[in-house]
Amino acid sequence: MHPPLLTHHVAVPGGRLAVHSSGSGLPLLLLHGFPLDHGMWVGQAPLAEQLRLIVPDQRGFGGSAGQEPEGPASIAQLADDAVALLDALHVGRPAVICGLSMGGYVAQHIAARHPERVAALVLVDTKLEADTPDARAVRLDLAAKVGRLGQRIVGEAMIPRLLAREFPAAAKAERMAIEELLLRTILAQPVATIQAALHALADRPDMTEAMRTVTAPTLLVVGADDQITPPACLEAAEAIMPRARLLIVPEAGHMAPLEQPAVFNAALVEFLREAALPPA
Ligand code: MLT
Repeated sequence: MHPPLLTHHVAVPGGRLAVHSSGSGLPLLLLHGFPLDHGMWVGQAPLAEQLRLIVPDQRGFGGSAGQEPEGPASIAQLADDAVALLDALHVGRPAVICGLSMGGYVAQHIAARHPERVAALVLVDTKLEADTPDARAVRLDLAAKVGRLGQRIVGEAMIPRLLAREFPAAAKAERMAIEELLLRTILAQPVATIQAALHALADRPDMTEAMRTVTAPTLLVVGADDQITPPACLEAAEAIMPRARLLIVPEAGHMAPLEQPAVFNAALVEFLREAALPPA
């Protein structure tokens, strides 16, 4: 049995964030996507046998709801929150910074703003580019709709696009459990948090130039059937990031670590070994 995740709250400037942690050794920060919380990393719990897992609920999400610092929740601010969290946990050594989608945008900002905190970077089902004007308009429209209709509208809009379109018949029960987890998680997030995050996503800058100079070893991971940030997004990142290598995960969509946890975990451990970052 792998060690359980322990939940606690830590003080960051202006408020508190919930964090779930487990294991010891090389720190691995796992940053969740939108509009989810730490629970999307459930499949990574076995990594605590080899690494120190640090899994926050980012500002306003999950257990951080109602305790978060006030003020603008830009992606850059979420990156600063994550670093404040590492400080609060006395993580003195550089950590492996891993983020999925929105968490991947936050991870890129940590690499750009706090490079000394990054032992290695893992960008999952994400991209470097800013929103197009059309994508931005869709987000702002969704933010207005959530205010009128509640979280379910986000679940209905997103869940069919979060997972691979096809899956083996034998995986039906697993697939239903994942869909239920995603819906339950989305319905639990405060409307104001979802709206703030949609605005932060819409306003985020293009990170392409900043990512050209990242010197940390970088693993890029994407589901072969990611409908939100398709493999081409990560192929573009691989082409410009100096130390990046790309893994395309078969039978996975935008939630590769949740859909194919064994493949994801094995690839991460192998990447850290090759980067000479021993897990223990
Ligand atoms: C996410 O999964 O975090 C979102 O899909 C991010 C995005 O829409 O850009």
